[in-house]
Amino acid sequence: MLSDLALEAGASPVAHSGSADALGARSAAAECGRLYPARIADGWRDATGALVRIRPIAAADAELIRVFVHSLSVETRYLRFMAAVKQLSPQLIDRLTRLDHRRDAALIAITDDAGEDRVVGVARYALNADGRSCEFAIIVAEDWQGRGLGRHLLTLLVETAVARGLERMDGEVLAVNRTMLAFVRALGFGVSASADPATRRVHLGLDRRPAFA
Ligand SMILES: CC(C)(COP(=O)(O)OP(=O)(O)OC[C@H]1O[C@@H](n2cnc3c(N)ncnc32)[C@H](O)[C@@H]1OP(=O)(O)O)[C@@H](O)C(=O)NCCC(=O)NCCS
Repeated sequence: MLSDLALEAGASPVAHSGSADALGARSAAAECGRLYPARIADGWRDATGALVRIRPIAAADAELIRVFVHSLSVETRYLRFMAAVKQLSPQLIDRLTRLDHRRDAALIAITDDAGEDRVVGVARYALNADGRSCEFAIIVAEDWQGRGLGRHLLTLLVETAVARGLERMDGEVLAVNRTMLAFVRALGFGVSASADPATRRVHLGLDRRPAFA
């Protein structure tokens, strides 16, 4: 899993170009859209027909992300960030929303909740220093888990990485996170030991079409 708390501490090698600032918001969104599979714009519906809109994350999503993370249970926050975090600092939220989409990728899933936008999932990856592999993370709101949204988001993320010519997608998952380990196994990832006995490395070769696409 992408270690966002390490990232906050400045340990990430990921570049921060600020290109989205330089472009107008509209042209940035248009440029951004071209970097992702077109079918993202179709959104996704669960078995009841409830619509989820999906698009690349943007700096303007900072408040939505703050509310989303704050709404999660202590356990879910721990599983996602691998640390006991109550809320994210403004600096980390900025890093998670203001991406260089030519290098990294992040998709945000949004529903309509009584006329208000509500985040129900985020899937992201950061390009590794080798330029050929990436480190991913995913989260789905508790009341949306088990409905297929995670599968759809991760499928879109894998398609994005494949389209950009990446060779491998990696992640780090807490060993106690049985749900995530079952989830990635179901989607074709391998699971192996990590240097830290509290975590597992998960990995997917992208040189073939993923079985779940
Ligand atoms: C892991 C997570 C992203 C899965 O998302 P989700 O939307 O609930 O998953 P889906 O409904 O798309 O499930 C896809 C497949 O994963 C497997 N799966 C999902 N939840 C499972 C569970 N609790 N137990 C066993 N298998 C499970 C199943 O094979 C499922 O396919 P099926 O429904 O056809 O059986 C979600 O549980 C989550 O956000 N967890 C908390 C945050 C976290 O741990 N993130 C990982 C750190 S990077």
